[in-house]
Amino acid sequence: MNYKTLLLSVSLNFLLVPVFAQGDVAKAFSFAGKQTTVLLKEVDSAKLAAANPALVSPRNTKPDGSLGMINSKDWCSGFFPGELWFLYEYTKDAKWLQPAKAFTANIEKEKDDATSHDVGFKIYNSAGNAYRLTRDPHYKDVVIEGAKTLSKRFNPVVGSIQSWNSRNGWKFPVIIDNMMNLELLFEATHLTGDSSFYKIAVAHANTTMKNHFREDYSSYHVIDYDPANGQILHKQTHQGFADNSAWARGQAWGLYGYTLCYRETKNKAYLEQAQKIAKFIFSNPNMPADLVPYWDFDDTAIPNVPRDASAAAIMASALYELSTYSPANAKNYKATADKIIKSLGNGYQSKIGENHGFLLLHSTGHKPAKSEIDVPIIYADYYYLEALLRKDRLAKHKPVVIR
Ligand code: GLY
Repeated sequence: MNYKTLLLSVSLNFLLVPVFAQGDVAKAFSFAGKQTTVLLKEVDSAKLAAANPALVSPRNTKPDGSLGMINSKDWCSGFFPGELWFLYEYTKDAKWLQPAKAFTANIEKEKDDATSHDVGFKIYNSAGNAYRLTRDPHYKDVVIEGAKTLSKRFNPVVGSIQSWNSRNGWKFPVIIDNMMNLELLFEATHLTGDSSFYKIAVAHANTTMKNHFREDYSSYHVIDYDPANGQILHKQTHQGFADNSAWARGQAWGLYGYTLCYRETKNKAYLEQAQKIAKFIFSNPNMPADLVPYWDFDDTAIPNVPRDASAAAIMASALYELSTYSPANAKNYKATADKIIKSLGNGYQSKIGENHGFLLLHSTGHKPAKSEIDVPIIYADYYYLEALLRKDRLAKHKPVVIR
């Protein structure tokens, strides 16, 4: 190749690579827009059929093939409003604004529900995104109220937020998923200047880092504490294959959680934790070639077990962010996330008009309870769109997370 041809080829690559990369995201959002239009119609029909106005958000496909609708209290009620906000964010098309506002309003009362840690998932993904994109002060108040509610579940003796109420013999169960809810607390400190939310989030992250993780940086799902003295009573993996196994979504929650904790605190210990979790996940011999994990890395029946596309989507979204904090691993993390997104787009997307308008197939919710096995689940779609937005921002040299 002579000098001129080389120069031409380099400049063409420079011009074309981002355009092609953008093509993937644009295509996926165009698909998501079409499917979500279907889902909005299906939600209306399901509400009419059930004659139950309390069923406000879609969650899954039920075993009989019908659309699974949930009330606002369900831990998954904030994901669909969040998806509508993501569609609005990417397309800037006002047609998403009205449903985004309406589905967010439907679950707003959850800001006061102190009966589980899930107020974080519900309020941050709906009102948190709404505030980020509109700056309407009403949403700011909802986020702050939600954070106050979540803070009530913090026990300073344990140094953690209690995830679930006492049941199943647990006294003070804390689940790895709870790491995700810290984002609501960090946001409330940004919005109010009150550092008490931040301090609770940091204490929870530190206690979880100490007690949930094994030597190989895989994590247990549930640590049950004695609330009177903070002693550990049980270490379990309630939603996984066995107590000592690595439940795929739990590993994804940990990866995402410590990445966001590093973003908010710049504490290197959180960055290292996220990197070690990433290493456990992506060097695991049971990770399939397409990087969409089996539902549990240690199921002894692998490869004849279901995948969890939701875990893959959460991992991709987390990795795009982590790539911006880890210069030495940036290329590798981004390439891994790109590969997951490619896999999800090729083998895991629904056909347009099918599956009630859900985006991704093949998620697994709670296999031991024989619930939501290898089906579309709303949180897979939420984190898929979030990952796509992050991929897009990276390509446009914007901050990967926009508050
Ligand atoms: N947060 C519950 C789950 O991941 O299934």
